[in-house]
Amino acid sequence: MRFILIAPPVPSQKWKEQFEKIAPEIPLTIGAMTDRPEEVVCAMVWKQKKGVLSPFKNLKLIFSMGAGVDHIMEDDSIPHHIPICRVIDPQMAFSMSNYILMAVLNHHRSFYDFQRAKQKKQWAQFEFGEKELKIGVLGTGFLGMDIATKLDALGFSVVGFSTTPKETSFPSYSGTQLDSFLSEINVLICIVPYTPKTQNLLNYSFFQKLKNPTYLINVSRGGVQVEKDILRALDEGLLNGTFLDVFEEEPLPKKSPLWDHPNIQITPHIASLTYPEQSVRQVLDCFERVEKGLPLPQQADRKRMY
Ligand code: GLV
Repeated sequence: MRFILIAPPVPSQKWKEQFEKIAPEIPLTIGAMTDRPEEVVCAMVWKQKKGVLSPFKNLKLIFSMGAGVDHIMEDDSIPHHIPICRVIDPQMAFSMSNYILMAVLNHHRSFYDFQRAKQKKQWAQFEFGEKELKIGVLGTGFLGMDIATKLDALGFSVVGFSTTPKETSFPSYSGTQLDSFLSEINVLICIVPYTPKTQNLLNYSFFQKLKNPTYLINVSRGGVQVEKDILRALDEGLLNGTFLDVFEEEPLPKKSPLWDHPNIQITPHIASLTYPEQSVRQVLDCFERVEKGLPLPQQADRKRMY
């Protein structure tokens, strides 16, 4: 029995250290090259190349090293009987929610206006008020539910949207009610998984459904947004600002017009951090459950693709 870890160098090193500390008895291979592929029973992957798992004929579990599983779902060479699990971590939700909170509060308290005033040494005490916000959380999965619940508890007016109805402490829409959801809000937090259904979702016709100038926060995937449509929606006032952590192409190319736009805030896909110790424990727990034939609460659905 052997576990394999296929990911870029930075997460690989930290995961390797934690894995060897927590499960020194399990042989671990870093990278896809091994002369004993038949021994590999569990693969931990992030941004792996398509087809790279094909030599491992005895795989029992594939574990995404992040919250998203799109990099695995997109690989048609992976047999459907192998369960795909992902990190579901309260610590990750803590970092994601705090990132979103930062973006919401900066907007709420006109932080960028005060920054511009500071550059002019202007004491703008009465110029910028507190904004009245109606915050829409698009995607109330594990992470979306965490931020929606926290914003609600902080006293913000929150409304959720999910594909299937969810029990929430705040009003929420589901299914075919997307237009009603969009017509109510003036802050949109996009925290949906990347699937064929959400690809290019944040496009011009979507923005046209917003009744109020809306502040967009996207922490899902760059493939969910159409950047030229974001720029157009900003120009036309459908959007009054954006806080983006994800981009169509990452790293965001130097020539992208997004960099210089005064109403676009940019961070380099860092909204949710992964904590390797916690995550490695989850991999081991999932694997034990696979071996015992127990249900896998962290399993992604092949049909829904998340
Ligand atoms: C990061 O983007 C993740 O999916 O964990």
